[in-house]
Amino acid sequence: MNFQAPEGTHDITPEQVVLWNRLEKAAREMFGRFGYEEVRTPIFEYTALFHKSSGETTDIVEKEMFTFGDPEDKKGTYSLRPELTPGTIRALIEGQLFAKKNFWKVWYLGPAFRKERPQKGRYRQFTQIGVEAMGSSDPLVDAETMVLFAEILKAVGVTAWELRINSIGCKECRPTYREALKAYIQPLLGTLDENCQRRFERNVFRILDCKVDAEKLKDAPKAMDHLCPQCKAHMAVVEKALQSCGVPYRVDPRIVRGLDYYTRTVYEFSSSALGSQNALAGGGRYDTLVGSMGGPDVGSVGFAAGVERILLAMGGEAPPPAPDFYAVAAGDVARDEVFKTVMALRRAGLSGDMDFEGRSVKAQMRSANKAAARYALFIGPEEALKGAVKVKDMKDGAEQTVSLDEAVQKLQGGKTS
Ligand code: HAM
Repeated sequence: MNFQAPEGTHDITPEQVVLWNRLEKAAREMFGRFGYEEVRTPIFEYTALFHKSSGETTDIVEKEMFTFGDPEDKKGTYSLRPELTPGTIRALIEGQLFAKKNFWKVWYLGPAFRKERPQKGRYRQFTQIGVEAMGSSDPLVDAETMVLFAEILKAVGVTAWELRINSIGCKECRPTYREALKAYIQPLLGTLDENCQRRFERNVFRILDCKVDAEKLKDAPKAMDHLCPQCKAHMAVVEKALQSCGVPYRVDPRIVRGLDYYTRTVYEFSSSALGSQNALAGGGRYDTLVGSMGGPDVGSVGFAAGVERILLAMGGEAPPPAPDFYAVAAGDVARDEVFKTVMALRRAGLSGDMDFEGRSVKAQMRSANKAAARYALFIGPEEALKGAVKVKDMKDGAEQTVSLDEAVQKLQGGKTS
């Protein structure tokens, strides 16, 4: 019987891990440079947390959560996290971290789960990497999060991306916009798809996200035209900061985001290198969420990116890094002698391997070539007796028999990374 991975899950093969590690390393470095600290939270939380934060009327909470446990339990059921923002905020509040300092800049990387219809770039288990900057209403922080993600993309060589931003206002100006939008949509409602009709009363903004009836809504009122002076000024600072850092962007009134907690700035990075699931990252400001979850009443902003989608944009696969050496057991040598030499070299900080399948010298050389080893080391009975190795430079073919210490020095000198 052949087993298959559950629908919507996927394996990360060794070829993909190389890119994954490259991305993770670049991101970690960038987060450190921008002053973000790492947090790790559980992959499941009480379901109520997501209802309270992500939003009751969102597709994510209504239809896409993996929920389990006993509904009769006093504390309720659990859900696998569909996003990492709620758990991160919960952790900071529960850990009383705001008592230590008012402003936290944190980052995370970990799996998220959504019961979506799987397709390329859309999975039921995927990985989010993201940041939350909690405790400041400064519009420069909004810009900082966007510049940060642009820098990560640059560091991993993803160039085909687009940033679209919008402002959806605050609790002062949003109600006016809501009314304007409702007044516009009301006469069209009968012609819109069922999903939009349902959204009309529950969350009218999400109708703008509709893929089916986009054409009918193209002249809908824009949030940007209904902003209060404070929200307008906020957006102006964000735009100026992006311009001054040379981060290209476009204002797009259709960016409303699929989660309920946003206020003011919202944004999405997309890539033309991907198919229909082209969103690399999404984020925005959420000025009332932390307070509504029992924390201090502070402004916050963050984003999350899909690791798998970034990997696709990076090209999907890469060869593993080339080792420093491949040790060939030549002639009738005791294999534990080769093993001993290999271990000494590894302990000296060199990377490499040997044959564990009892193959011929020719086959071992093929392995050395295939691995693109910098040096092939031959250890035969004579070398073993003298504690020596024959070093072959795989670039120019030059061979030299040297002591083990000399070999270590030579190989360290030839290291490329
Ligand atoms: P989101 O837009 O729902 O935002 O997800 C962020 C990113 O996760 C997407 O842009 C996409 O790259 C990736 N993603 C989402 N769903 C899937 C899926 N089914 N398969 C593969 N990748 C996926 C959030 O989750 C917010 N928590 C972002 C945020 C943080 N806002 C403020 N702080």
